[in-house]
Amino acid sequence: MIMNIPSQKDIEKILLNKNQIKKKVVELAGLISEDYKNKEIYAVIVLKGAENFAHDLISKINLRIPIIKDYFMLSSYGNAFESSGKVKVVLDLGQSIKNKDVLIIEDIIDSGFTLNYLLTVLEARGPNSIKVSSLLNKPTRKPEFKDLKIDYLGFNIPNYFVVGYGLDYCQYCRNWPFIAVLKEEFYQV
Ligand code: IMP
Ligand code: MG
Repeated sequence: MIMNIPSQKDIEKILLNKNQIKKKVVELAGLISEDYKNKEIYAVIVLKGAENFAHDLISKINLRIPIIKDYFMLSSYGNAFESSGKVKVVLDLGQSIKNKDVLIIEDIIDSGFTLNYLLTVLEARGPNSIKVSSLLNKPTRKPEFKDLKIDYLGFNIPNYFVVGYGLDYCQYCRNWPFIAVLKEEFYQV
């Protein structure tokens, strides 16, 4: 596949800067700390995109709340911009979530397919509860996934393809400390 490697000169605009993200992460961590004050959190971090958000979010949750961090990795057979509606489990959780209070940590909810798949898989394992935290949400939900609830949402964004802070374009840009939209010309290879 022929593709360009994105660099800073390809940025059209910064949608969310470091400080905006940081402020929101602290706010969400506060809500979570309140809701889970008498519980333990079993954090399910969805790789690779949610890694940055999950790291920052978890580090701001009240230290009195016991937290287990675990990872789930899915690969989607889509193109770079949208999931195809077919996913494969690449890495499963390390432990049983039976009777656990699960907090799914996602980077972005787009069509809703990935989250719906994950909820179905995890619900079948008998957790005590499942809640969802996502940094971003797009207005592009498929009708059949309209009812998916995001308990702790960072930002609603327009239907842009965004990169940075964990989100990638062909695996690049995950290390950028902000969330950006790339120039249209960049994609015209
Ligand atoms: P969904 O299954 O359509 O909801 O897509 C969710 C997954 O697609 C996310 O977890 C991301 O991995 C990816 N994705 C959706 N939108 C974007 C985007 O704007 N930038 C980067 N990845 C995205
Ligand atoms: Mg993801």
